[in-house]
Amino acid sequence: MAAPCFLIYFIFSASCLVDGQPPKYALKGGWGFLKPDIAGHPDGILWKYNGNKVVEFNGNEQQEFSPYHSRIILNWVSAELNISELRFEDSGDYELEVHINKALHRSFHKLEVIDLVPRPSISCELMDGGGSNVSAELLCSAAPGRPRAGVAFEWRTRGDVRRGPRLHIPLGGDYDDDVYSCNVSNLLSSKEATFPAKDCYPGTLSLRRLNLSLTSLLESL
Ligand SMILES: *[C@@H]1O[C@H](CO)[C@@H](O)[C@H](O)[C@H]1NC(C)=O
Ligand SMILES: *[C@@H]1O[C@H](CO)[C@@H](O)[C@H](O)[C@H]1NC(C)=O
Ligand SMILES: *[C@@H]1O[C@H](CO)[C@@H](O)[C@H](O)[C@H]1NC(C)=O
Ligand SMILES: *[C@@H]1O[C@H](CO)[C@@H](O)[C@H](O)[C@H]1NC(C)=O
Repeated sequence: MAAPCFLIYFIFSASCLVDGQPPKYALKGGWGFLKPDIAGHPDGILWKYNGNKVVEFNGNEQQEFSPYHSRIILNWVSAELNISELRFEDSGDYELEVHINKALHRSFHKLEVIDLVPRPSISCELMDGGGSNVSAELLCSAAPGRPRAGVAFEWRTRGDVRRGPRLHIPLGGDYDDDVYSCNVSNLLSSKEATFPAKDCYPGTLSLRRLNLSLTSLLESL
């Protein structure tokens, strides 16, 4: 009975690893580190990517395979794999086979190579509420990098924080002196851009704005 139980346990634990292993994120051009959990001194190590060999250690020496040639550091004791000069094509499923005391141990690892988030740009659309009620909508946008999803936008002004790419802002009076900053971030990087509220007034409208403040000045007298 021992053998089938062992087999079931092995299949179960192996498939658990496939499903349960969270992807490891790394920046394009940087390095990615895959860290298996093994105990004992390996007699042999084989890392594979999509079924193709990445690096193989036979107990005495290691052999590296294209396109990983001279981009990897393999730890012969821990089987940890460090891949440098990462490319998007390095994203995917890695499989490790380790021989320890003539027993084969398999594990599965996921690597996801992503871009630095691009610098955002901010645009403003005036919304005329009539009378002296002027407001605007700011839109923060960033050129689509990789990944397209998983990019978060955050607005800040005077210590106030709002999530999302759009922000409705009040204008007029002291509000025109406010400065808004938009922070775009993904899992590994972030960039920021700022926008003064007064830049919402295009050239022709600054006359109207001057008139507004003149009108309110006259009203307050
Ligand atoms: C991976 O290798 C790079 C250089 O190629 C090194 O700077 C980095 O510290 C290594 N990472 C780990 C976790 O050893
Ligand atoms: C001012 O304008 C905004 C948007 O145009 C509107 O939501 C708001 O209700 C207006 N407020 C007043 C007091 O008219
Ligand atoms: C932008 O947001 C990220 C994620 O919330 C944060 O780690 C980073 O410090 C922020 N950067 C600035 C300049 O606020
Ligand atoms: C200034 O405001 C007044 C009253 O609100 C309006 O009648 C006038 O046309 C405005 N002038 C300009 C140049 O916008």
